[in-house]
Amino acid sequence: MPNIIVVGAQWGDEGKGKIIDVLSKDSDYVVRYQGGNNAGHTVVVGEREFVLHLIPSGILHRGKVCVIGNGVVVDPEALWNEIIELRKKGIKVNEDNLMVSDEVHIIFPYHKAIERLKEDRRGSSKIGSTGRGIGPCYTDKADRCGIRLADLFEKDMLYEKLKANLKEKNEIFRKIYNFKGFSFKELYDQYLNYGKRLKRYACNCSIILNDCIAKGKSILFEGAQGTLLDMDHGTYPFVTSSNATAGGACTGTGVSPNKIDSVIGVVKAYTTRVGEGPFPTEFPPDLMEQIRNKGKEFGATTGRPRRCGWFDAVIVSHSIRVNGLDSIAVTKIDVLDDSNTIKICVAYKYKGKLCENFPGDINILNNCEPIYEVYPGWLEDTSSVQRYEDLPLNARRYLKRLSTILKTKISIVSVGSKRTQTFYNNI
Ligand code: GDP
Ligand code: IMO
Ligand code: MG
Repeated sequence: MPNIIVVGAQWGDEGKGKIIDVLSKDSDYVVRYQGGNNAGHTVVVGEREFVLHLIPSGILHRGKVCVIGNGVVVDPEALWNEIIELRKKGIKVNEDNLMVSDEVHIIFPYHKAIERLKEDRRGSSKIGSTGRGIGPCYTDKADRCGIRLADLFEKDMLYEKLKANLKEKNEIFRKIYNFKGFSFKELYDQYLNYGKRLKRYACNCSIILNDCIAKGKSILFEGAQGTLLDMDHGTYPFVTSSNATAGGACTGTGVSPNKIDSVIGVVKAYTTRVGEGPFPTEFPPDLMEQIRNKGKEFGATTGRPRRCGWFDAVIVSHSIRVNGLDSIAVTKIDVLDDSNTIKICVAYKYKGKLCENFPGDINILNNCEPIYEVYPGWLEDTSSVQRYEDLPLNARRYLKRLSTILKTKISIVSVGSKRTQTFYNNI
């Protein structure tokens, strides 16, 4: 099995968790490389549903090693709770199958507080953040005042860094936000304690993974969020604060690009997004309701209703280029089973001009008119289909058309949330 990066090619929630879970059985290591517990990856095993936020989706397969790479930001309380919850459900999680880079940056309560206060101030131009403190933690990382997992193991180091951080942050809280701030002693004791609990999981991610490659073992890199939420290549500023795209897998783990064999993008058969920001193919209210209910489109992390719309080939073509996608996995075909007509957006019209490439200017995305191709639906239940050949004719035509427009092969098709509702392909 080669080393594969799996990325979201839309605005997140494409079904990465499910695809990672399916591919995990043929991989030795599964690694998260960016983001934090803003992610919510749902995996269904038999009749049981698991929602993973920080721990790679490979954890549900025995014998796989899961690694949280240096590019991830970790809320230790959230990580600890996730470990405990999995154990309660009978999943083995210990230092044999979970490792955390000692270079991950740590989320503190002041990150969550400042995020909330900033979002409140933004008013109608808010980002719609999940409120997990992700952005402020990455801000500290870039500002070179961040606190990393290894710092939690060193009393004096944590003392010095936390003291300096809190001094400045509490001043900002009080002077700008009229908020009392945080007590040093409480946070210091609490985070030293997290350090003690998490020490056994700490690793040097780059060494572990490069050793594994040298031994001929294989790695699955699990992207969180999606390309359009990438800090550089997404719909900035309505993005997350990390590189969700394929390049992030290398910087976020210490594995070189020449060790990567393939990149797979996950797309939904339509589009969704949670939070604010432009969404050219967003449905009108009646269709929104229908697809949201059929697709159970509610956020796995915050429970917010997801905004839904038609498949947007302009954004997915952008994802294919930015990530160098070798193939795509198309999920949730079954959600379109009851649709009379199905649309694919192939370009945007802006001020009378046709725009076929994803624009950097967010004004264009906000004010463009999507240009659609319209196809008849298949009006048949696809949820038990096991082979491409057995899909209804119009479903095959839809997939074929997507593949032609995107100039990319479809390697996996998913028709339900279960492992068995998946088939490999070569469309
Ligand atoms: P992720 O963040 O990319 O891992 O995606 P989420 O887990 O947040 O959202 C995808 C949702 O769709 C989950 O509830 C999955 O169980 C579900 N799902 C995945 N593939 C399919 C599919 O082919 N059909 C249906 N109906 N549900 C799916
Ligand atoms: P998975 O991995 C969908 C969105 C938020 C918000 C923006 C910034 O499950 O696909 P942040 O908390 O990062 O400051 O939020 O990004 N967002 C996601 N949307 N799926 C996700 O993860 C997301 N993670 C963040 O809704 O619009
Ligand atoms: Mg999700």
